[in-house]
Amino acid sequence: MTRPSAPSGRSPASPPAALALGPPPSGIEALEWDGLEQAVSGCQACGLCQGRRQTVFGVGDRQADWMIVGEAPGEQEDLRGEPFVGNAGQLLDSMLQAVGLDRGHRVYIANVIKCRPPGNRNPEPSEVAQCEPFLRRQIALVKPRIILAMGRFAVQSLLATQEPIGKLRGRLHQYEGVPVVVTYHPAYLLRNLPDKAKAWADLCLALDQFPSTEPGREPSIPT
Ligand code: URA
Repeated sequence: MTRPSAPSGRSPASPPAALALGPPPSGIEALEWDGLEQAVSGCQACGLCQGRRQTVFGVGDRQADWMIVGEAPGEQEDLRGEPFVGNAGQLLDSMLQAVGLDRGHRVYIANVIKCRPPGNRNPEPSEVAQCEPFLRRQIALVKPRIILAMGRFAVQSLLATQEPIGKLRGRLHQYEGVPVVVTYHPAYLLRNLPDKAKAWADLCLALDQFPSTEPGREPSIPT
């Protein structure tokens, strides 16, 4: 797999071959939250289970209108068991705050991949494919009104495309009938500050589609 410098938030290190350990997860589409969380924490469907400290399921309001989909846990997320708690997560939090959201309130945050890839390497397509049913079920349970997909792996997995983010952003897409807005990964934005303006435009597109704020509370552009 080649490693473009953008727009994924993942490390450019070259990956070891993915090791499939078990069959693809089955029956996930019928699970409720508790069963789904247990299925994720016990999953051994790919080799990522061998290096994880713990799985990183998702966090937030399970009845949220907004859903953020990221890529995969990094070191901090693997330690804490929560998505987006490292540096990229701090930027995500300020982006969310700017539109009147926070991780405990009106938004649910999950990754495509539930286990940390070793050394933060890019996930392999087979790992994405094995993990995808978990995210699919999370989305079905949350029933969000808008999905913000952050980074190449989130975007390409949800939209089943190989198109780069630059060609996909700026318009609405659909995932199982839910509008999807495509944007850059916060880790990428930390390295490419001028593209923050594009990410803000993407947030505004999502806001146009579905407001995040209570009446009277205006979104404010982050610095
Ligand atoms: N990057 C992601 O995409 N997700 C996380 O949880 C952390 C970093």
